[in-house]
Amino acid sequence: MDIQRLLSEMSLAEKLGQLTQLNANFFKENEAEITGPASRLDLDPADAANAGSVLNFDGAATMRSVQEIAMARQPHHIPLLFMQDVVHGYRTIYPIPLAMGCSFDPDLMEECASMAAKEAASGGVNVTFAPMVDLVHDARWGRVMETAGGEDKTLGCRMAAAQVRGFQGDLKKGKIAACVKHFAAYGGAEAGRDYNAVELSEHTLREDYLPAYRAAVDAGARLLMTSFNTLGGEPVASNRHLITDILRGEWDFDGSVISDYNSYREMLKHGAAETEKEAVDWALSAGGEIEMMSALTYRFGKELLDEGKITPEQIDRAVLRVLRLKEELGLFDDPMRGATPEEEQRICLCAEHRAIACRAAEESAVLLKNDGVLPFSDKTKKVALIGPFAREHGIKGFWACHGRDEDSVTVEEGVRVLLPDAEITVCGGCSHALRETDISGVADAVRLAREAEVVVLCLGEFQNCSGEGNSRAILELSPAQLSLAAAVAAANPNTAVLLFCGRPLAISDLADTVPAILTMFQPGTEGGTAAARLLFGKTCPSGRLSMSFPYCTGQEPIYYAHQSTARPTPDPHEICEGGYVSRYLDAPTAPLYPFGFGLSYTEFSYGELKASGDTMTEKDSITFTVTVTNTGSLAGKETVQWYLRDEVACPVRPVKELVEFQKIELAPGESREVRFTVKEPLLRYHTRSGEFASETGRFTVTVGPDSERGQSCAFTLVK
Ligand code: BGC
Repeated sequence: MDIQRLLSEMSLAEKLGQLTQLNANFFKENEAEITGPASRLDLDPADAANAGSVLNFDGAATMRSVQEIAMARQPHHIPLLFMQDVVHGYRTIYPIPLAMGCSFDPDLMEECASMAAKEAASGGVNVTFAPMVDLVHDARWGRVMETAGGEDKTLGCRMAAAQVRGFQGDLKKGKIAACVKHFAAYGGAEAGRDYNAVELSEHTLREDYLPAYRAAVDAGARLLMTSFNTLGGEPVASNRHLITDILRGEWDFDGSVISDYNSYREMLKHGAAETEKEAVDWALSAGGEIEMMSALTYRFGKELLDEGKITPEQIDRAVLRVLRLKEELGLFDDPMRGATPEEEQRICLCAEHRAIACRAAEESAVLLKNDGVLPFSDKTKKVALIGPFAREHGIKGFWACHGRDEDSVTVEEGVRVLLPDAEITVCGGCSHALRETDISGVADAVRLAREAEVVVLCLGEFQNCSGEGNSRAILELSPAQLSLAAAVAAANPNTAVLLFCGRPLAISDLADTVPAILTMFQPGTEGGTAAARLLFGKTCPSGRLSMSFPYCTGQEPIYYAHQSTARPTPDPHEICEGGYVSRYLDAPTAPLYPFGFGLSYTEFSYGELKASGDTMTEKDSITFTVTVTNTGSLAGKETVQWYLRDEVACPVRPVKELVEFQKIELAPGESREVRFTVKEPLLRYHTRSGEFASETGRFTVTVGPDSERGQSCAFTLVK
């Protein structure tokens, strides 16, 4: 297709249409069926025929009929782009991205994204609104479940790039385009409340929040979505500095920019624009292109052009990008891209995909506590499964738009398959309502616990308690769940908690009462299978936290890569008695479980950290080596984590930052030497003068199993 020529033949309405995204139900036979903000769009069916893309549709059959109707009406028969949130799977759901981050395995992340792309493409999806790469420091924010980097930028960059590679590949059959979101700093919402304002210095924005979007752009993401929030008082949808100066100017991004749902209109709600026309003027002037679900570009584009507020070249450039993506995806040759209901049925939830989802759930689970009760013997004859998640299918997690609860394997089903000869009893004990106080079911639970050899206590928060719009102010478990846990653990010491959650929870009370806690987060379709295999020792847990678990909600936001205050407490794990230090009177300042933390069924020891030198210049490097040994009796995986500190700089640098990690598998008794080389570019940061440069001086490298423990080595950069 000669897209330049096509462009030259298109009317202005057609061009503005390519920049307009509507809900698929605009195209259903009954066009009057218009919902939500769509009903206020002031568009008639002829206008809708000009739209360039749609979102939210349910599979290949719908896609085919909408594509057919749309192409027949579009004057040049230009196919639509079909976009959808395929965030952690399409029909086969893998663990929520926050959990995938805990795998510390970008290759596995890529494999999962690739599987999701294959299923989604078979269902007619051309573009996924993923990866979401927002850095988050506050677990109260519900959308933390969507980010594989959790609180860390290095993990965020690796996982962002892996997802883009997995979704897109060569963009041919079975692949879909990636739309990185939400640019920028949406995860910095004040008080962890979704859609709330974000206040960040340019320095922190560039140092911590922007790198993951950049990594996705550098990995070739074809689209980028702007965020809902204001940043420094400016709605991001109209933020020229971000979209034009940084994204286009500094990063050379040549894909399409899309707004988030109705966010042009929301500029009126923010109080940033007086009229809809003003809102779209600012958004387009800032560099906005495709508009999701508000159609202001379509309605006011001509007026803005006539008034010289936007230019025809600007519109042509944006339309060309949309046409180019359609061309790249092969839509002009095959508008259906081979998607049929039969193909969808054949590919989705196939055994191969379920196996990948199971492996992903095993690799992302994190063993937080184990006083020796786990793993349970696979010869166990009597198991009690207790708690509101024992029989719950709703463990796939939020943002699994095409996933179905009934396809998820429950804990009960997983354990029954693994231990076909065991006697298994099940009891809810209490509901998973957030502030549940009803403990009338606890007595039955205690009776079952007493009668069983081992107890699996399935606690946590339900899948719709995280995700968009679902912030929480209390991260502790409900009074009923805590009472249930205390009573059951007292009745049977062989009790292990399986924790289901879409964010870090504040579980210090739980950790005080139960001997073992394995967090599954929301593990997806094969969650129950993976949980059973981990509990009964078929797999050794190897996940490491992508985000700190706080001691209590009041510590939020809490993250390891913080700056040092001038008055740190002597021991962050203890409540400090002395005054005039940076402390809480009623809680320690350290989290309960820090970033990078996770236990195993085996033990690893680290030999002495060695360095090839203690001074380097811009031209050479220093290599650090350490030998890691599996000193336990089971095979297992260790994630070796390398942290860096720039000891003296201004603006000051964090107390440590993850710069590299290696996940290695070791047989019992096996040792492996692990290396890490520091070169000057790694030491650069955004200096006081705004440059991205290194400065001479002292640095410290630390290697260890998590962000708190490890051995350090100092070195100096000279120029
Ligand atoms: C969310 C986006 C999502 C879009 C389309 C918005 O509400 O913020 O992340 O991609 O809806 O579903």
